[in-house]
Amino acid sequence: MSTLMKRTHMCGVLRSENIGGKVTLNGWIQKRRNLGGLIFCDLRDKTGIVQIVFNNEPADLFERADSLRSEYVVGVRGTVRERESKNRDLPTGDIEIIAEELVIYSEADTPPIYVKDDDNVSEDLRLRYRYLDLRKLKMQRNLTFRHKIAQCAREYFSAEGFTEVETPVLVNPTPEGARDYLVPSRVNPGKFFALPQSPQQFKQMLMLSGTDRYFQIARCFRDEDLRADRQPEFTQIDLEMSFVDQEDVIDVNERFLQKVFRDVMDIEIPVPFPRVPYDEAMERFGSDKPDTRFGFELKCLNDVVKDCGFKVFTDALAAGGDVRGINISGYSDKFSRKDVDKMTESIKTFGAKGLVWIRVNDSEITSSVNKFFDQDQLKQITEVFSGKPNDLILIVADRKSVVFDSLGFLRRDLADKLGLLNDSQYNLLWVVDFPLYEYNEEEGRYYAMHHPFTAPKPEDVPLMDTDPGKVKANAYDIVLNGVELGGGSIRIHDSALQQKMFEVLGLSPEEVQQKFGFMLEAFRYGTPPHGGLAYGLDRLVMLLAGEKSIREVIAFPKNQNAACMLTGAPTEAAEQQLEELSIRIAEEEK
Ligand code: AMO
Ligand code: AMP
Repeated sequence: MSTLMKRTHMCGVLRSENIGGKVTLNGWIQKRRNLGGLIFCDLRDKTGIVQIVFNNEPADLFERADSLRSEYVVGVRGTVRERESKNRDLPTGDIEIIAEELVIYSEADTPPIYVKDDDNVSEDLRLRYRYLDLRKLKMQRNLTFRHKIAQCAREYFSAEGFTEVETPVLVNPTPEGARDYLVPSRVNPGKFFALPQSPQQFKQMLMLSGTDRYFQIARCFRDEDLRADRQPEFTQIDLEMSFVDQEDVIDVNERFLQKVFRDVMDIEIPVPFPRVPYDEAMERFGSDKPDTRFGFELKCLNDVVKDCGFKVFTDALAAGGDVRGINISGYSDKFSRKDVDKMTESIKTFGAKGLVWIRVNDSEITSSVNKFFDQDQLKQITEVFSGKPNDLILIVADRKSVVFDSLGFLRRDLADKLGLLNDSQYNLLWVVDFPLYEYNEEEGRYYAMHHPFTAPKPEDVPLMDTDPGKVKANAYDIVLNGVELGGGSIRIHDSALQQKMFEVLGLSPEEVQQKFGFMLEAFRYGTPPHGGLAYGLDRLVMLLAGEKSIREVIAFPKNQNAACMLTGAPTEAAEQQLEELSIRIAEEEK
C-alpha cells in the first residue's frame, strides 16, 4: 500500500500567482510523453489538467515516472514554475509543476474508452464504462452544474416557506399516462406495488394534512418509450401549495426560474413570461410546446382552398380535417427537390400522407401541384403567407392532429437544419388553458390531458356532461425553447367533482373505489383549494448546460432499451426468489 500524499491544491486551479510555491497534487494521468531526458505528464482531476515535468534525476523518480500510463492514479509533490511554451487552450497553461516526489496509488489497464470530451465512441460503450466516461471534465462539470441547480431549488423554495418532504417509492399506481414499474410484495403474495410516476397523490395528501407548501426533489419512474429527453427514471422538482390560484403558482415559479438563471447562468430573465393559450399554440406553432426563437408560423388555408378542384385538399376538408402550411421564408434555395422528398418521408411517422410544396420565384410560382392550380390560385395561397421571392411554402392536408404534428415537427426541424436555433437565447413561456380531456379515437374514450386530479375551469363544469372535449382546465406548462420543462395544475378539491371526473374518464364505481377510494374519502374531511407544478430537473439541467440529451446530465442513465449497461440490469431472477414472490415466468410462446 502506498502512503497517501495529502493534496494542497486541485489540479485545475493553479495559475501564475502560484509560481514558486510548493504543491501536492492527486489525480489521474491523462497522458505521458518521454522526450529523452524529460518526461511530461498531464495530471487530471475534476477541476482540470495541469502539466507535470520530471527531470532525468534523481534516477529512481525518473524511472517511476517513465512507468506511468494513462489513468494511473498518483500523488505528486513539486514546485510551480513558469511554463516555457504556454498553452493557451488550458486554464493552467501558463505554469507547470517540476516534480520532486511521486507516489503511484494504483495502476490502470489500457482503458476501453479515451477520457476525452470528444472521444466519439458509441453511447452504449460510454454507458458500459460510465465511471471512465464520468472522468471527462465535461461530465464532471455537468454533475456539478446539476448539483448547483438542485441546491438553488432547495434554497429558493425553503425561503418561500416550502417544506421538503419525502414521499414513498413503494406506492399504488399514480396515473400520469405511462406504464407502471411493478414491484411484487413477498408478504402479500400475488400483490404488487407500483413505483411512483410522480408524487402527485401524496403531495395532495400533504395539502390535506396542512403542510401548506411542499417541495421535493423526487425520483419518478415511467415505463415509456425512450427519447433524448425521456428516461424511465428521472427527477422532478415537485411542489404543491395550498390556498392558491393559478396566478400564485405561476408567480412563485417565475421567480424561481429567474433565480436559477441568475445564480447558475448569470443571466437576468424578464418576468412575467409570455403566456400562450393552448389553442393558439397549436394554431400558430402546431405544438403545445412551441419554440418561439424563430418564425415559420402555421397558417390555415381552409377558406382559400375550399372550392379548389384538388381532391387531396377538398377531401381532407370534407372529412372535417384541415389544410395548413408553413412558409420557410427566404430559404427556398436552401432546399432541393430531394430535400423536400426527405421532408415528405419524415412526416409519415405522424401519419401524413403527403406534402405539397410551393416555391415563390421572381417571375412565377412553381409547385408540386401545378397540374391542379393555375398561377392565380397559387398566388392566392402565397398571399396568406405574405409570400415573396425565395419563399418555400409547405402544405399538409389531413386530420387536425396530423396536420399540427407534421407542420410543428417540420417547422422546428428545418429551423434546426438552417442553424436558426440559437443556444444562448432562452425563450420561456407558459402554455395555459389546456383542454381537460383528450379524445382517443381508437379506444373511443376520453383521457385526462394532464392527470385526473386537474380542475376544470369553473365556468366549463357543465360541459363535462354535454361536451367533454370543450372543457378547459386550470392547467399550465412551462416551456423553454420548445421543450416542456414542467407542468402543473390547480386540483379538484371537491369529492363530488372528482367523482364526476372519474366517471367521464369511463372508470366504473368499483374501479374508482379500488384505485382512488382513499382520495375521495380524504376529500370528505376538509380540503384546502390547492395546486402545484413539477419540473423535469434533468431537462432543466440539459437545456441550461447546452446538452442535446438528458443522459448527459444523469450520472448513471439507462440506454435506449431501458437497461443499465454498467450493472447489466435488468437481469433474470433466481428460481427461489421467484418462488418466494409466488411468481412464475410464462413459457415463451413457441
Ligand atoms: P408531468 O407528467 O407533466 O406532470 O411531469 C412533469 C415534468 O417531468 C418531466 N418528465 C420527464 N423527464 C424525463 N423523463 C421522463 N420520462 C419524463 N416524464 C416527465 C417533464 C415534465 O414536464 N404530477 C404532475 C405535476 C403536477 O401536476 O404538479 C406531473 O408529473 O419535464
Ligand atoms: P397524389 O394525388 O396522391 O399524387 O398527390 C399529389 C401531391 O399531393 C403530391 O405532391 C403529394 O405529396 C401531395 N399530397 C398527397 N396527400 C397529401 C396530403 N394529405 N397533404 C398534403 N399533400 C398531400
